Amino acid sequence: MNKSIALSFTKVKTLLRLLLIFGCIIPKNSMAQEIKSPTEKKWWKEAVVYQIYPRSFKDTDGDGIGDLKGIISKLDYIKSLGIDVVWLNPIYGSPNADNGYDISDYQSIMKEFGTMEDFNTLLKGMHERGLKLVLDLVVNHTSDEHKWFQESRKSRNNPYRNYYHWWPAEKGKPAFRPGAFEADGSGWRYDKTTNSYYLHYFSYKQPDLNWENPKVRQEIYNMMRWWLNKGIDGFRMDVIPFISKDTTFPVITQADLNKNYEGRWDVYMAEGPHLHDYLKEMNQEVLSKYDCMSLAEGAGMLKSTALNFVDPDRHELNMGYHFDGTNLGYIPGYFKKMNPNWSLIEFKKIYSDWDAVYDKKGWGTIYLGNHDQPRMTSRWGNDSPEFRAQSSKMLTTFLLSMRGTPYYYNGDEIGMVNAKFDKIEDYRDIETIAEYEKVKIAGGDLKQFIEDQKTGGARDNGRTPFQWDNSKNAGFSTAEPWLKVNDNHITLNAEVQEKDPNSVLNYFRKMVNLRKSNPALIYGKYTLVDKDNPNIYAYTRELDGKKLLILLNFSNKTATVNLDYDIVNAKVLIGNYTDISLDKNLKPYEAIILELK
Ligand code: NOJ
Repeated sequence: MNKSIALSFTKVKTLLRLLLIFGCIIPKNSMAQEIKSPTEKKWWKEAVVYQIYPRSFKDTDGDGIGDLKGIISKLDYIKSLGIDVVWLNPIYGSPNADNGYDISDYQSIMKEFGTMEDFNTLLKGMHERGLKLVLDLVVNHTSDEHKWFQESRKSRNNPYRNYYHWWPAEKGKPAFRPGAFEADGSGWRYDKTTNSYYLHYFSYKQPDLNWENPKVRQEIYNMMRWWLNKGIDGFRMDVIPFISKDTTFPVITQADLNKNYEGRWDVYMAEGPHLHDYLKEMNQEVLSKYDCMSLAEGAGMLKSTALNFVDPDRHELNMGYHFDGTNLGYIPGYFKKMNPNWSLIEFKKIYSDWDAVYDKKGWGTIYLGNHDQPRMTSRWGNDSPEFRAQSSKMLTTFLLSMRGTPYYYNGDEIGMVNAKFDKIEDYRDIETIAEYEKVKIAGGDLKQFIEDQKTGGARDNGRTPFQWDNSKNAGFSTAEPWLKVNDNHITLNAEVQEKDPNSVLNYFRKMVNLRKSNPALIYGKYTLVDKDNPNIYAYTRELDGKKLLILLNFSNKTATVNLDYDIVNAKVLIGNYTDISLDKNLKPYEAIILELK
């Protein structure tokens, strides 16, 4: 290069650098914003996460309970779905008061599920297939059978005493805190040995850990490092927003909740004084050291607080999932009783508003079902034989075409529906049983309660054994399963659907593939269209000049979408009917994705 040109080049570079330093050319932070925008590529943004409920997936040792070997035996099926990440519900040592969400040993495998050797084989088998594995991290509470708690309750000066929250009874009864799975609704339990109460936000079998104690935090970080060093790819963090507590346990009235916490206890509990200090510390000590993903179960998380968890500049977590969507349609004053006329307009508003939260920073998630929810098709679609398949395909289209990482629950890929048990004796879930007791104590209508559980709340609806085939116990187990199999497994099962190119299962695979081959479906801008349409959810996803239009009819009638776009010449990328007409009328539960010209 000519010497004088090279010199002036250097000068220009120096000048540019100076201008940059003084913020003259590029506004402050704009570089940082560009890098941190939602379109910054990350594997966990591009992933489709498949959630496995191990207890109900596949039993290989004939005890009626799913196990790790069962998951291993289905690894090729899991891979064939096209998904990238598997999240397993807790697999650790547990007396199972709350199906593994009450952990008695964080570094062991629940004996019903198998051994550590099985776990190693499972992890290896997943990695060999290019699948990542995410485990549940349950550290707001342990089991009361964890050795820390066994010690803690022995005496007031036991070295483990401060691992939990204790309230000496001589100070009188502690101020009310909710205990989710208790018939009396109280989050405090009296313990005779030391004449004290201990705190449990869930059942009395799940005492809350005292995160304000640095020793507790170090124990947890060590345990997390131990699993990550084994090679797992991240954590889904159970009720993580609840970890920090105001240990003076002041009286909180409904008026206080109304004033500062949207009238809700979960919001109060999610805003503990040191929550974000602890998440930052966890990030610094553990998460930042690994290429792993972290997901907060966003209990009590609001649109206004969500970025406090996932703004990348804060160095806390990657993603969180909110409850606004799954809480929609519940009738106040009842336990998860569903209003059958829930409003699609509100539904659209919730998902659109949450998309906007992450428009500039952070990253969202999307889900319609999990182990705490009824089946998505029964709740948001239509589980009648006429519309079951069509509506579950439509919901799958929604989940896999929104911005945010999709969390897809096992069994939904074959369109499993609610079990709708008629008797309380058929339910196994601690929550449903406690709520039933509450109604009984209040002299309420128990029959009505059972009816309400069929579409609304009961978590067991989403936990019935996976329907592999039409044999006895649906191919899940040779023994009587821990929870009844849905009778419809005779016709609704994976084996039948494997053979049918138009099945719900094969539609799911196509939809996963479509998302993965269209970056616009992952990173593209989301814009709601025809917002006031009460039957149709329509939106565009747009990236680098490519614009996709998603049309979803959430109703059981033909409905018309109002569009400014000319769609006659658009390219059809997928549809859940074989005869697709581009005339703006959508058949019942029809779903179409179009590429606009
Ligand atoms: C949320 C989990 O998803 C749920 O299943 C569990 O019962 C509670 N947290 C308590 O751990």
